[in-house]
Amino acid sequence: GRQGCQIDFEHVSFSYEGASGEPVLKNINLTCLPGETIGIIGSTGSGKSSLVNLIPRFYDVSSGSIRVDGVDTQELDPAKLRDRIAIVPQKSILFSGTIEENLLWGNEHASREEIMQAANMAEAHSFIAAFPEGYETMLGQRGVNLSGGQKQRLSIARALIRKPDVLILDDCTSALDTTTETNIKESLKSFASGVTCLLIAQRITSVMDADKIVVMDDGEIVGIGTHEALMKSCRVYVEIFQS
Ligand code: GTP
Repeated sequence: GRQGCQIDFEHVSFSYEGASGEPVLKNINLTCLPGETIGIIGSTGSGKSSLVNLIPRFYDVSSGSIRVDGVDTQELDPAKLRDRIAIVPQKSILFSGTIEENLLWGNEHASREEIMQAANMAEAHSFIAAFPEGYETMLGQRGVNLSGGQKQRLSIARALIRKPDVLILDDCTSALDTTTETNIKESLKSFASGVTCLLIAQRITSVMDADKIVVMDDGEIVGIGTHEALMKSCRVYVEIFQS
């Protein structure tokens, strides 16, 4: 199976180019161990997406460093780095084409069996199979209209087909009911075990069982720990829990 990566953030600060004022991320220190599931929670604009987007170098750090398996990402070929990392964005990006073409985007070599296994894990296989044309169903203007939750499940399946070492889910389960979300997380645990997983969420219930939870506030990490530990020690976490 795939071996998850270790990711180390060391004193990372980040500002978007041309933006004035306070950096979006300030002195981030975080270690994600191989195979760990890390939940990330925090209010809107606290920097969660910016943090994960630095890992595949969609943006470069302003200062500090991010290391993947000990190597500074600044010294890695971005294409090779991105090959190991799958990010499921907040907003699903699907194009006009069949469901299968959409799923294969990023790994055109996967077999139908691998596609179906990933779709199963992402709780997408049964709704796909229910279409008369199944995986050949057309999406987009001249095709079927999917619900927000169905689009999210296709995006997750697409990421799994790539068999990444690092899987980043950026708040992409918000349109799913909690049962579907729990089922997906359960299959990830068994099938994607060993994969380092970063999971951004709005709801505490989405990250509660992560190995550790990172709490972001205004560009800073204000708490790292398990749910139980954070409930005792992190005011921001308790506020999110109560809201
Ligand atoms: P939500 O996705 O709303 O939950 O927020 P988040 O916690 O993921 O924060 P995010 O990293 O998206 O944003 C952090 C800050 O960076 C906010 O003040 C944003 O307005 C700002 N920001 C995000 N994307 C960009 C960008 O592309 N350019 C600039 N200049 N600022 C950005």
